[in-house]
Amino acid sequence: MQSPRPYHNIALVGFMGVGKSTVGQILAGMLDFEFVDTDRVIETREGRRISEIFAQEGETRFRDLETNLIREYETQQGLILSTGGGLVVRPENLASLRTHALIVCLWASPAVIYERVRYQGHRPLLQTPDPQGRIAELLEQRKPAYQQADILVGVDFRSPQETAQYITNSFRLLRHSPRRSASSPTQSVPHR
Ligand code: S3P
Repeated sequence: MQSPRPYHNIALVGFMGVGKSTVGQILAGMLDFEFVDTDRVIETREGRRISEIFAQEGETRFRDLETNLIREYETQQGLILSTGGGLVVRPENLASLRTHALIVCLWASPAVIYERVRYQGHRPLLQTPDPQGRIAELLEQRKPAYQQADILVGVDFRSPQETAQYITNSFRLLRHSPRRSASSPTQSVPHR
């Protein structure tokens, strides 16, 4: 028999620009949890921007910092973790989150993502002549990893408030259900 999953925290995963930080902060208010943005924690600890870490030491160094940080949350409770868009590329990161958190993936179409990020210059992976093409390519590469989340929530037609409410409802239900295991991903189709 499958042992119950502990849902002490909620981890938001998903591509850049899908609204993890905005939704995460609303969620933290709804559940009275602490909001943590892993990108911001890394920047504070390193004393430099993520773009500088990429430029000075490369993406692998950033991914190592991310993996080390994510492990620290295994023993904590009452957190909403907003994670960097590429966190899921390392299977060990998802495995770590699975030991303590409900993993929720916010999903948006490439066109919506592009509209949201096109005027923001701080994402090193999108500093290319064709950011739209790069978004589509990365999204396709990462899709199998994002699909391993417990819940996939489409955000193209949902406001951050609606998204947070949907996640809160799911979290409360799962926490109080006897088996407490989201063994197969639940997909949520946008409702507008
Ligand atoms: C990245 C996403 C960024 C940040 C870094 C790499 C990615 O986070 O971690 O620039 O690989 O998709 P956001 O998803 O918060 O923008």
